[in-house]
Parts: sequence; C-alpha cells; structure tokens
Amino acid sequence: MARMSTASLKEKRLKNEKISMLTAYDYSTASLVDEAGIDMILVGDSLGMVFLGYENTLSVTMEDMIHHTKAVVRGTKNAMVVGDMPFMSYHVSVKEAVRNAGRFIQEGGAQAVKLEGGQERIATVKAILDAQIPVMGHIGLTPQSVNQFGGFKVQGKDLETANKLIRDAKALDEAGVFSIVLECVPTQLAKRITEAVSVPTIGIGAGQYCDGQVLVINDMLGMFKGHIPKFVKKFANLEPIIIAALRDYKKEVEEGTFPGEEHGFTIKDDVLEKLY
Ligand code: KIV
Repeated sequence: MARMSTASLKEKRLKNEKISMLTAYDYSTASLVDEAGIDMILVGDSLGMVFLGYENTLSVTMEDMIHHTKAVVRGTKNAMVVGDMPFMSYHVSVKEAVRNAGRFIQEGGAQAVKLEGGQERIATVKAILDAQIPVMGHIGLTPQSVNQFGGFKVQGKDLETANKLIRDAKALDEAGVFSIVLECVPTQLAKRITEAVSVPTIGIGAGQYCDGQVLVINDMLGMFKGHIPKFVKKFANLEPIIIAALRDYKKEVEEGTFPGEEHGFTIKDDVLEKLY
C-alpha cells in the first residue's frame, strides 16, 4: 500500500469518502495508528499539553517538534505525516517560516506542514508552497492565539466572525493548501465552509459535515487527565486499565511474585561452580 498523499486525499473527497486523522507524538503510538489504517497523522503541537505537561501550546519549540516528528515518521509506512509548525516558527518572517517548514521535511521526514491562521498568513503559505512543501491550513479556534481569544472558545458564532472564517478558508484554498482544519466552529458553518472550498476540510469540534475528522489521540483513548473538550468521544478508557496494571506490577514486585523463573536467564552449572 502506498503512503497517503495530497492527491489521494483529494481523491477521497471527490469520492465522498471520509478522511481519518489522529495526532501521535512517538514511535510506538504512531506505529499503532498506522497499522489501524488511519489516513493522516498530525504531530500536533498539542504535544505541549499531553506529552510535555505545559498549560498550552505556546512553549513548544521547533526542536521539540522535530524530535517528535522523527519518531512518528519512523513508526509509519502508510499514513501521511503532517508536522505542526509551533508558535513563533512562522510569525517573525516569511523566510524563517520557509526554513522551519523545510526542517520538518528534511530533518523530520514529514510529508507536509500545518500552520494556524487565515488571510493574514497567505504570504507565508504561498512561500512555503513555493518551496514544494504541502501546507495544511488551520482556522477557527487556533490554540496559538489563546491569549488573543481570551481562552479556548467556539469561533464564528456571529455574522462578522463567521463570514471572516469563510473568507479565510477561501483565501487558503486559493493560495493552494491541500486541506484545512476547522477547529471548534458551529456545525452549520463548517458545512458552509466545506461547500465553499475545493480541498478537504478536517473537523475537530466542527460537526459531521467536514470531509474528515481529527482528534488528539490521548483524549480519544482516555489517557489524558487534563481538560477534555465536549467534542471528544472516548473510543476507549485506557487510564483505569493502565493504572490497574501498574498497581499489579507494584504489588507483584513487593510480594516477590514478579519476576518469576520464566522471566530469567540460565547459566551452565560448570560456569556457576567456577565463579569466585
Ligand atoms: O496540535 C494539535 O493537536 C492540533 C489539532 C487539535 C488539530 O492542532
């Protein structure tokens, strides 16, 4: 099976086939996501919260992202890997943005990058595309703007902001992005945006009419103790299972029932006899 590409995603949209995407931040998880046949893996800057324990995504650096992207890419064969450009990696200058996007491809091994923002980012998006790097847009609740938004809130609820999101999506589409993430926007607005653009929309908290869906893997597997947004469905609840296993391990170590004989290695008697 060939790795998912921007062309195969476009084809899926044309055939009305939904696109699946999940985040992953490490080799082992990425290899499970890949084996399950998920179309795209986002090495999201959400790793700041779920992997590094920060309050938000603002502290995540390019070095963090490249390190985790390399691990995820090593775990995948079929999924398309998208590297999430972190805060301040594309805000200072277009030149710096292109250089950082290039690092995701050249050092990280990703197939594409994602960056947050609409019309205000078009020059940056075009310059990255000029470097032959596929770009995924991200509008709506863009977590790197949390201080400007004053919290994590649903976006596009009034006429002015809803129309702005439609303009942002159209501008990204015209600039040449291969897909657009719509985060935390009303369902009917996400539907209108999806109808207004030519590329697949990937929703997170944007209802059922997008061309695909993305979730943070730790949220959907029930493995994250922090705030879980309303739009998340827990497809598993691994936290109690993991804690029970860890408690069993502690108990068996303390009781001396683990390790058992079957977990050890043998040595020949004649070697043993000659030991000091
Ligand atoms: O970093 C992330 O996980 C994301 C998704 C929420 C889209 O950007």
